[in-house]
Amino acid sequence: MEGVDESGTFRPMLRAGARFDPSAANKPILVFQDVHKAYKADAPVLRGMNLGIERGEFVFFTGPSGAGKSTLLRLLYAEESLDSGRILFMGREVGRLTPEAIPFLRRNIGVVFQDFKLVENWSVTENVALPLEVLGLPARLIRQRTGEALERVGLGGRGNDLAGTLSGGEQQRVAIARAIVGEPALVLADEPTGNLDPQLAVDILGLFEDIHDTGVTVIFATHDRSLLDIRPRRVVILQDGKTIDAPNGLEDPEELDQLQVA
Ligand SMILES: Nc1ncnc2c1ncn2[C@@H]1O[C@H](COP(=O)(O)OP(=O)(O)OP(=O)(O)O)[C@@H](O)[C@H]1O
Ligand SMILES: [Mg+2]
Repeated sequence: MEGVDESGTFRPMLRAGARFDPSAANKPILVFQDVHKAYKADAPVLRGMNLGIERGEFVFFTGPSGAGKSTLLRLLYAEESLDSGRILFMGREVGRLTPEAIPFLRRNIGVVFQDFKLVENWSVTENVALPLEVLGLPARLIRQRTGEALERVGLGGRGNDLAGTLSGGEQQRVAIARAIVGEPALVLADEPTGNLDPQLAVDILGLFEDIHDTGVTVIFATHDRSLLDIRPRRVVILQDGKTIDAPNGLEDPEELDQLQVA
C-alpha cells in the first residue's frame, strides 16, 4: 500500500512539502545565502552567491562555460558540499542534512542531464520506474505512475522499447519522465537540450513548460540564447562566482554584451 513501508509504519510520500517544516510553505522554495565553493583553493567557482527562488517559478540559469552552473545544481541536490554559506530547500539547510536525510531531499528534486543518463539496455518503462522502485512502491502503483509519466512526455505506448534504441529527443523525454515520476517539488535541468538539434530543443523546453504549468518549480541551465529569448522569463546569470538577476530576461543586447553571455 502506498505510504506504508515494510515495518508497517506510515511513511508519507513527499508531496506538497511533507516531512518539511510546514511554515516553509510560505517561504521561497530555494534560498542561496553567501555560498562559496572552490574545488581548488586558487580558483574559487562560487564566491558569495545569493539567490532566492519562489515556489512555482521557472528560472533559467546561464553564464559562460565554467561559471559554475552545474556546480550550483550539484550543491543543491547534495552531490557536492559547499565551503561556506547556506542553501535552504523548503526551509531545510541542504549542507546540514544527515546522510540518511539526503534520499528524502532527492525525492523532492527531479534532475535531467544533457546526456540523458539512461540505462540503454533497459526498457523505457524500467528506466522511468527506477525512482519508484527505490521507494519500494507496490508494482501496480509503479506501473500506473510510470504509464502516466510516459503519457505526459508524449511516449505512451513506447514503454517496452529498449531505451538505447530511441532517438536523442525521445531519450531525453524518457529522462524527463523519470525526473517527474516521483512528483518532485523542484525539477533541475542541466543543459537538457545540449545534445539536441534546435527544433528538438524547443520541443523539450515546451515539455518543461508543461511541467511548470502543473505547479512544479523548474530550474533550467542552458547556454542556448535562442531558448532564453523565446519569451520574457527570469534569467539568473552566473558570472565571476556571483549571480546577476534579470527578472524579465535578456532582451537588451547591450546588457547582454556587458554580461558576456555566450
Ligand atoms: N569535480 C571537479 N573537480 C575539480 N574542478 C571541477 C569539478 N567540477 C567542476 N570543476 C571546475 O569548476 C568550474 C565550474 O564548473 P561547472 O561544471 O560548474 O561549470 P558550468 O557553468 O556548468 O560550465 P558548462 O557551461 O561548460 O557546463 C570549472 O572551472 C570546472 O573545471
Ligand atoms: Mg555545466
